[in-house]
This record gives sequence, structure tokens and C-alpha cells, in this order.
Amino acid sequence: MKLPSTALGKATGILTVVVVVIAAVLIYFEDEDPVQYSSMTEDIRSLEENFRQHNRSCFILGASGETGRLLLQELLQRNIFSRITLIGRRQLTFEDKAYENLVQEVVDFEKLDDYAAAFEGHDVGYCCLGTTRAKAGAEGFVRVDHDYVLKSAELAKVGGCKQFHLESSRGADKNSNFLYLKVKGQVEADIEALGFDRFTIYRPGVLLVDRQESRPSEWLARKFFGAFSPVFSSMSIPVQVLVKAMVSNTVLQPEQKTEILENKAIASLGEKNAAK
Ligand SMILES: NC(=O)c1ccc[n+]([C@@H]2O[C@H](COP(=O)([O-])OP(=O)(O)OC[C@H]3O[C@@H](n4cnc5c(N)ncnc54)[C@H](OP(=O)(O)O)[C@@H]3O)[C@@H](O)[C@H]2O)c1
Repeated sequence: MKLPSTALGKATGILTVVVVVIAAVLIYFEDEDPVQYSSMTEDIRSLEENFRQHNRSCFILGASGETGRLLLQELLQRNIFSRITLIGRRQLTFEDKAYENLVQEVVDFEKLDDYAAAFEGHDVGYCCLGTTRAKAGAEGFVRVDHDYVLKSAELAKVGGCKQFHLESSRGADKNSNFLYLKVKGQVEADIEALGFDRFTIYRPGVLLVDRQESRPSEWLARKFFGAFSPVFSSMSIPVQVLVKAMVSNTVLQPEQKTEILENKAIASLGEKNAAK
């Protein structure tokens, strides 16, 4: 069937307007310029070396997830900790020899107080724990992304942890009307109140990751932002870049006790170290 040229012209016009409006909205919500780290690239290796000398230990929550497992890989590769503990709800198995010295603590997140010992004696904690509303329902989502995360942070603090690194989300805001963003913002605020020596919040956009599990809406967002990532650089991030930034940031000396890294700042920090 052949469309009359006026109808075709009208359809093209409407499509153009729609694309321009979407682009304008997304650009409006772009992050501010990334944080600048002067001489960070040159210094990062020596900072890592210095950090390594202190024989520090860390734990990871969510090491079986997409971010957590790559974070673990990156930490093993860069070897900045003498001891790494994985805290999770199940025992993980690893084939590679690089993983043989890991400590694993299997806990029941509904009874975390009974597992306080698992959190003791770590200098740094990383939290990549989380579920989705689709998977766990609204209540289950709050239970995991807020209650489990906050309780873990509390136990870590009591157990002597100095630095807590939280993987939150772009747009996290405790006053948001959206449950996801509200819960993320609330847990950020509640952990900040615990008073860690250092608390770092990472707010990535859509994670570009090859997830095996089916999550249709995440898949769609990934395809869209993956295709347009050069244009909307603050909306998405490859998970490999995020974990590089998390490890690099661990050895840097921030000026504030609490720092928030938005998507662009994470990308800037992670990409600077991509070739290392
Ligand atoms: N995906 C994105 O695009 C995106 C974007 C921005 C921020 N984030 C946030 O970043 C964090 C990590 O995301 P991700 O995609 O890497 O996570 P993921 O692959 O879904 O992994 C989640 C981790 O949390 C654990 N977990 C989930 N439900 C649990 C429960 N009921 N009890 C105990 N452990 C549980 C999982 O353990 P099991 O393996 O045992 O299930 C897994 O280790 C989340 O907080 C997420 O909200 C994600």
C-alpha cells in the first residue's frame, strides 16, 4: 500500500517532534559536569600501593549479582585488600584459583542480628545488594533494598568498619513519589546518619550488563541507552566502568565524609582507569 505523500510527511513530522521532545527531556535531566580529579590518573597506582601496605580487609554484599561479581573480580585483580569476605544468603562456588582465599559468610538476612560476627573486623564494606519490585513485590523490595542494607551497614559500623560504599541509583531521593527512588534515597540518608568515617554513594544510571535473567523493562532501557550512550552519557554506564570507579575511589582521599558520585563522575573515574 502506498501512503499519500502528505500523510507520509505528516507522520515524519510527528516522529521528529516526538524524538526531539524525548531528547530534550533527557538532556534536561543530564548530570552536572563530572567531578574533576586533578593528577588522579598519575597517582592512582601509588595510592593503591600505599593502600595495599596497610593489610586492610573488606566485605561485599551482593557478590553473586551483576555488579557484585565484577566488583569482586576487579578487587582480586587490583589486589588492594589482604582479605575479602563475601556476605550473602548462599554459598558461591568459583573455579578459578584467584578466588581460593576468599572468606564466605552465609547469613539469614531476616535474622541479621544473629550474624553480627560476620560483619566484624572489616575496614571497608561494599554494598551491591538489591532486588526489584517485579521480583519481590513492593514490601519485599523495601525489605531488601532498605531494611537488609541498613541493618548490614549498622552491623558493619558496630564491627569497626570505617568506609561504606553503597551502590544506589540515579535519581535517588527520599522525597520522591516513586517507590524505587524514595527507598534508595531513604537508605542513603539512614546510612549517612550512622556516621561512618567515610560514606560513598554511587548513583549509576541504567547498568549496561549482559544479564541472563529476564527483566524486560531493564532490557528495553539497556537497549535504548546502550545505542544512544554517547548522546545520553549520564543515563547509563557499563557495569565494568562502575566497578573500576568503585575500586579507584576506595584509595582516593575525599574531602567530605559523605560523597555522592553521580553517573558522569563514576564514568569519568572508571574510564580513566579502564586501560590499567
Ligand atoms: N540494574 C540496573 O540497571 C541498576 C541501575 C542503578 C542502580 N542499580 C542498583 O544497583 C544494585 C545492584 O544491582 P545489580 O543489577 O548488580 O543487582 P543484581 O544482579 O540483581 O544482584 C542483586 C544481589 O542482591 C542479592 N539479593 C537479592 N535479593 C535478595 C534477598 N532477598 N536476600 C538476600 N540477598 C538478595 C542477590 O543475591 P542472590 O544471587 O542470592 O539472588 C545478588 O547478590 C541494586 O541495589 C540496584 O537497585 C541497578
